[in-house]
Order: sequence, then C-alpha cells, then structure tokens
Amino acid sequence: MQIIVCDDYKQMSGHGAAIVKKLLRDDPSAVLGLATGSTPIGMYDLLVQACADGEISFEKVRTVNLDEYVGLGEKDAQSYVHFMREHLFDKVNVKRENTHLPSGIAADLSAECARYSALLAGMPQDIQVLGLGSNGHIGFNEPGTPFDSTTYVVQLTENTIRDNARLFDRQEDVPRKAITMGISEIMRAKRILLLASGANKAKAVYGLVKGEVSESCPASILQRHADVTLVLDTAAASLIR
Ligand code: GLP
Repeated sequence: MQIIVCDDYKQMSGHGAAIVKKLLRDDPSAVLGLATGSTPIGMYDLLVQACADGEISFEKVRTVNLDEYVGLGEKDAQSYVHFMREHLFDKVNVKRENTHLPSGIAADLSAECARYSALLAGMPQDIQVLGLGSNGHIGFNEPGTPFDSTTYVVQLTENTIRDNARLFDRQEDVPRKAITMGISEIMRAKRILLLASGANKAKAVYGLVKGEVSESCPASILQRHADVTLVLDTAAASLIR
C-alpha cells in the first residue's frame, strides 16, 4: 500500500488528479471507477481543467460509479447521477452512453442490482477512485458487509445518514437506502486510489491501514489488494503517522 500524505485538500486533489491523468495518457480507453462525495470534487475540477487544456481526453473513457441513493434520479440535485454530471461528465468530452451508475429509481431494484453487477463483470475498472466514510465504509458498504458482496441494496446506518445530511435540506430527506457496488467488485479493480481529507476520517484511515482486516471496517479489506494508493491530508493521516 502506497500512502501519500499531503499538506491540505488542494495538494491531495492535485496528487489524485495526477494519478488519473497519467492513467488516461497511458490508456486513453481506460475504465474509470468513480466516487461521489465532497472529497473527490477538487480532483474532478483538476481533471476538467486538464481536459479543457487538451492534456487528457475522455473520448474513449468508460466510467462506472460506486453507488446511488434509492428513490433519487437525475432530476434530484442530491442524486449521485446529478453530482457526476455537474462535477465531471457535463464538463469533459466523455460520451454520456459510456457513463454508468446504478439507477436508484429502477422499478425492480433487485433486477437493477443484477444488471449493474453483470455490467461491472464485463468492464473491470483500471482504477477505482474511493472516498471513505467516517465509519470505514467504501462505496456504501457499511460495517458488517460481507467481503464477497456484489451490487446490492443497502440500508444506510444512522451514522452515514447523519454524515450525509449536510447535503440535504433536512436529515429526514436523506434516503434510507442505496444501491452500492459490492466489496468484491471494488476489489476487482486493477488499482485503487482512495482519497481522504479531514480529522473526521482519521479513525477510519487508522482502521484501513493498521486495523485488523475485518468486516467491521469495510475499508480494511484494501490491505489485501495488490495496488492501493492512499492520498491523505495531514488531518486524515494524523493517527497513522
Ligand atoms: C458517501 C459515499 C461514499 C463516499 C463517502 C465519503 O456516503 N457513498 O462513496 O466516499 O460518503 O463522503 P465525503 O467525501 O463527502 O466525506
């Protein structure tokens, strides 16, 4: 596991973007596994800039996202599909049909999980970008999720609902369920790039790096992946230094 500790969020975003840019220069038709949340926004901004400058192109890129809230669709500002379009897809030359997220508004959610799992099986990620929940979740794989999970509907924990409430008008508005890529599908990525910023992530970073590999800290499974890069700011890295 490679660990890069940065001074601040800006530097973390720069390191993350540099890794993705290099991948896209080496392989312009790479499959990018992408994440939502506040953490990767700075990195996405830099990728948008690099694309505008002609440094990289998303023309042949395909993307798969980690997760989506159940009940939210593209018209909902808090949906992850909306987030991805706002922060990346609408600002770069990626083809809309090459961008994939699970649908939170599918009439049959178990069929949607099966569809997304089959899609992922056919396009393994060259890199999977991850954020980190303060409880150690990756994607929306909450503590206790079996490591062999594939895409499924998850009941979000109170902790996650509280953490994510800041993006909604009221805590009651946060969906209680989500569809998430399973842990085994995250682990299939050739390379993992996890970004974490802020003191509220320090405990989860400790569990990821130094804790025992246990389903009680989903991110700890990354200790068993052959190619993981953590890009942290000093606050997120404070307990592992
Ligand atoms: C959300 C997402 C995760 C994300 C995490 C951290 O619950 N499902 O994929 O990594 O929370 O979010 P943030 O980056 O906003 O702290």
